[in-house]
Amino acid sequence: MDEKLLMKKFIEAYGDGGDIRTYFSPGRVNLIGEHTDYNGGHVFPCAITLGTFGIMRRRDDSKMNFSSANVRLGHVITVDMSDMSYKQEYNWANYPLGVVWAMKEKGIELDGGFDMMIWGNIPSGSGLSSSASIEVLMAKMIQDLYEIKSLSMLDLALIGQYSENNFNGCNSGIMDQFAVAMGKKDHAIFLNTADLSYQYAPIDLADEKIVIINSKVKHSLVDSAYNERREQCAAALKQLQTKLDIKSLGDLDIDTFEANKDLINSEIIRKRAKHAVYENQRTIEAVDALKKNDVERFGELMNQSHISLRDDYEVSCEEIDTLVELAWETDGVVGSRITGGGFGGCTVSIVKNYAVDKLKEYIEEEYLVKTGMRCEVYIAEIGDGTRRIN
Ligand code: GLA
Repeated sequence: MDEKLLMKKFIEAYGDGGDIRTYFSPGRVNLIGEHTDYNGGHVFPCAITLGTFGIMRRRDDSKMNFSSANVRLGHVITVDMSDMSYKQEYNWANYPLGVVWAMKEKGIELDGGFDMMIWGNIPSGSGLSSSASIEVLMAKMIQDLYEIKSLSMLDLALIGQYSENNFNGCNSGIMDQFAVAMGKKDHAIFLNTADLSYQYAPIDLADEKIVIINSKVKHSLVDSAYNERREQCAAALKQLQTKLDIKSLGDLDIDTFEANKDLINSEIIRKRAKHAVYENQRTIEAVDALKKNDVERFGELMNQSHISLRDDYEVSCEEIDTLVELAWETDGVVGSRITGGGFGGCTVSIVKNYAVDKLKEYIEEEYLVKTGMRCEVYIAEIGDGTRRIN
């Protein structure tokens, strides 16, 4: 499938004519800074060239037609604008519907419905933000087609997050929608989630590639485990605030945390907070190392990030640990870690050019032997953020 074929499918489903527009929205991979974005910390993601294409046209009536060429080609989910409530049976369409709902909540009411169709090549549930890709895509399509000029790309990201949190029930931070909306070719985004200030950092690795490996596992209850981590961090913050004047865990340096961690009365919650504090500091240091071209140090920090996510934050799983350990034992791998929300999904590694083929071959074979499953290996290309393409 590509955008031309998608256009053909769109016309087959909805008929020709009118102002039909095409858009693209990327996925993202996070290089370092995991589970820091709802703790007022730093993240370092980049948009990738895998993503979601969307085609949309306005309608004169109040029908919203959703169709996905990934799910059931030719199957259209119709929702009337008079009832935008979440319904299980809408399935994937709850993501774009949630965006229309979120806009309405923010006072932006559309004066008519639409026909839309999407197709994407981000493996779903892989930790590469297929849902944020769809959310920001939908927000962009609406902003452009309905000419809502007041909305910036940052607003579109925030609307996407709002819909994810309040319509689809995952209490996620801003990293994914931000990276998708604001992505820039060949750059990662160093974002401070405390105030949304950010810098683009060029990723011009001459000797290395960024390699993404999909474990192909997605454990159930991901959203509830995610929300639970978030609540544990909030509980840690509350206990630390009995003595410290801080707004978020991201305000803490390592020494202050260590000197005050006993204010937290539960071992588990202390471990969660430790991860959030250390990971934030690691992210700041990693970006600094990259600026100095110290890719080796960046890799070490990625490895430490994985260990912390595995042992203190406990969001890894056996299959992901297997992928990371296989990478660690391969010569030429500079660093490797789990990426995204966790409990399955993908790893991200920085790998010397000469070692990429060797790693791919080794890991495909060994992962199959160890888990009975086939992993998928992609070389990440860093692309631009969500945009109209014609
Ligand atoms: C998911 C969330 C993000 C972020 C990551 C973990 O991708 O959507 O907001 O919290 O997990 O870093």
